[in-house]
Amino acid sequence: MGLAAVGAACKEDRHGQSFADIRYSIRRKTRRFPRQGLVRSRLTLTKYVINGGKTLNGEVTISGAKNAAVAIVPAALLADGPVRLENVPKIIDVTLQMEIMRELGAQIRQINATTVEIQNTQNPSLKPHELERKLRASYYLLGVLLGKYGFAEVAMPGGCNFGGVRPIDQHIKGFEALGAKVTLPKGGYIRVEAPEDGLHGAHIYFDVVTVGATMNIMLAAVLAKGQTIMENCAKEPHIVDLANFLNAMGADVKGAGTDVIKIRGVESLHGGSYSIIPDQIEAGTFMAAVAACGGSVLVKNVIPRHLECITAKLREMSVEVTEFDDAVLVRREGKLTKTNIKTLPYPGFPTDMQPQMTTALCLAEGTSIITEGIWGSRYRYTEELTRMGANIHVDGAIAVVEGVRELNGAPVRAHDLRAGAAMVIAGLAAKGVTEVEQVQNIERGYETLVEKFVALGADMYRSEIPESAENK
Ligand code: EPU
Repeated sequence: MGLAAVGAACKEDRHGQSFADIRYSIRRKTRRFPRQGLVRSRLTLTKYVINGGKTLNGEVTISGAKNAAVAIVPAALLADGPVRLENVPKIIDVTLQMEIMRELGAQIRQINATTVEIQNTQNPSLKPHELERKLRASYYLLGVLLGKYGFAEVAMPGGCNFGGVRPIDQHIKGFEALGAKVTLPKGGYIRVEAPEDGLHGAHIYFDVVTVGATMNIMLAAVLAKGQTIMENCAKEPHIVDLANFLNAMGADVKGAGTDVIKIRGVESLHGGSYSIIPDQIEAGTFMAAVAACGGSVLVKNVIPRHLECITAKLREMSVEVTEFDDAVLVRREGKLTKTNIKTLPYPGFPTDMQPQMTTALCLAEGTSIITEGIWGSRYRYTEELTRMGANIHVDGAIAVVEGVRELNGAPVRAHDLRAGAAMVIAGLAAKGVTEVEQVQNIERGYETLVEKFVALGADMYRSEIPESAENK
């Protein structure tokens, strides 16, 4: 997808989520270009049309992990030599990262469908510029550019809107501990600047367990002088993947996957090859879909250990899950049964699987209780499920789900990425036709979701209607 198409897709958000502006400059090149205008083209209204009620059967191959790729792709800029990345997912969030990096001066070559080669030139002819984007993961460029060039300025990140502010105070605390000066210029930007003698190692204790800050400080610290110790770190698989990538390029990061990560700064990173891990949440989404729809699906190209918390919950719901070396077989023939879920940082149950599992539980016998432990208000999608016949009561971070016999198709919205995945699951399991709108939110993080479900026997298609025709 070209940049214009990506931009057009992102600008179609009807709920007024703020689009992230991203502004970078490199310390030695301080000329500023005027802000580019927003691309206002709204050519098509894209929907998924789902004729539900079919069981899912067959095999599906999982793509590379979004939340690893959005950090590892920009991290390639830290290396002096060419970096070849394999298993890169073709999703909007990654396409946007690469587009921004190209404008920063990087050369990015698509080697095949899932492999890219990234070369950060020694003398980048970087043009200071502004881009308007909607990308949570743009904040990883702060860590990368601060670590590599000593300066970065990026708009406050966008991404999924869970109904409240998504804070970055722990990122700021970490950068400051490394010696950076952090300021918040007018216009919603964040500027980070290293001292004259560069960043230095520090001892950082995170007040909350945060994926983003753990990864961002790691990115900034790998080229800093001396040792950085980070405590109370997040332990998600993508954190380990980022550390493995950086180490493969010559960094010295130890302890990723535990509470304490120790980083010894090195002079430079070199190029090399690296394969991104499979997407835990994409795999979990297909597993939850089989739970909701019934059938038997072999979910391939996964790391079953990363899926254990999802597997355990599905087994409690009377779904059969058989683990293989790099695949899981998910079968559901009888009735689904209730369970309770509380989302927590890894290895707890992932918040990014909460909407999909809640959707499956709408069809389980009995009463299930869901407690959201990360994003307190990630329940907006339940209003859509209620319109499909679900019986859900939400009170703050808790949702009580009374199982119903069936859901009925309806027009629904993908309020955010995982809410959108939940709507697709609901539509696949429901009687009748479901139309899912705002699917650009889904395509931010799922590669060829429609094709993958169709290959499993789903009756669904992607409909692109010129918006003017739709409005007539
Ligand atoms: N938090 C702070 N201060 C900070 C940062 C976070 O208080 O400086 C709080 C947040 O408010 C939240 C908790 O810490 O309550 C966890 O936030 P975290 O930083 O871990 O989230 P994130 O890095 O912004 C990533 C994923 C999200 C996923 C969360 C939690 C990316 C690009 N995003 O977000 O993924 O929900 O971790 O696992 O990696 C998704 O893929 O659908 C998605 C939203």
